[in-house]
Amino acid sequence: MRSKIAMAAIFTLKQVSHQRQGQQVVEQFSHTFEAGCSHAIIGPNGAGKTSLLRLLALLEKPGQGQLFFRDLDITSLWPQCLALRRRLGFLQQNPLLFQGTVWDNLAMGLKYRGFPRRQRRQRQEEVLAAFGLTPLARRQAASLSGGETQKVALARIMAFNPEVLLLDEPTANLDPYATFEFERLIADIPQQQGKTIILVTHDLGQAQRLSQRLLFLHRGRLVESGPTGLLLRQPEDNLTRQFLNRGLMV
Ligand SMILES: Nc1ncnc2c1ncn2[C@@H]1O[C@H](COP(=O)(O)OP(=O)(O)OP(=O)(O)O)[C@@H](O)[C@H]1O
Ligand SMILES: [Mg+2]
Repeated sequence: MRSKIAMAAIFTLKQVSHQRQGQQVVEQFSHTFEAGCSHAIIGPNGAGKTSLLRLLALLEKPGQGQLFFRDLDITSLWPQCLALRRRLGFLQQNPLLFQGTVWDNLAMGLKYRGFPRRQRRQRQEEVLAAFGLTPLARRQAASLSGGETQKVALARIMAFNPEVLLLDEPTANLDPYATFEFERLIADIPQQQGKTIILVTHDLGQAQRLSQRLLFLHRGRLVESGPTGLLLRQPEDNLTRQFLNRGLMV
């Protein structure tokens, strides 16, 4: 693992292991995610990327080891720490929208996080416009295409301005133009607003464009991490090299 300059941590994992239905999904995982920085996570299908994001989103308590959010020990504060979820925006790999219109979906997201009614309307209008979703505002969420659903789910998160954005393959269903627009929206967030982004992607170009730090996972383990450009150019581990050369399947 490459050495790093000490910075404020947003998430710290110490020897975290986790099982889901008897399956080992995260194994002996230790890492510090720096606050205000953008991180990309890459790895083959089934490597444990979504499982890791679910732990960071506080949807599941790690089976073993310790997870800290800033200096709060999540593992020992569970379940009292769950109010922290409101500070995290998690875009799931296959996002689900609430019943109702696109407008309702944005409203409910803001309401759940305690935004006063008079602020909600303005925020909803701003975010719909930013995502080019204004023409869809009155459409039933259930009638949207896959890509439109993904955009609305992302807009719903961006509306409440979370401290941390956890994004699981956010552009997997988007067309090239929408992907470009998404990347444009995301690109300047950490530096401008002190936010942390943790992005799972299979698009190495996207990882390079959007992240400062890169993590490579394989079979639930963190194989290698470091500055994105350096890791992509000069991976230290043989597994990372194979993956980047498209030679590693699982
Ligand atoms: N609820 C579950 N029960 C049993 N096994 C699970 C469960 N969820 C995930 N797994 C297994 O854990 C491993 C990691 O899954 P995960 O979804 O985290 O992978 P991933 O890296 O996100 O993959 P992908 O790139 O395909 O999205 C896989 O082998 C998967 O089959
Ligand atoms: Mg996944």
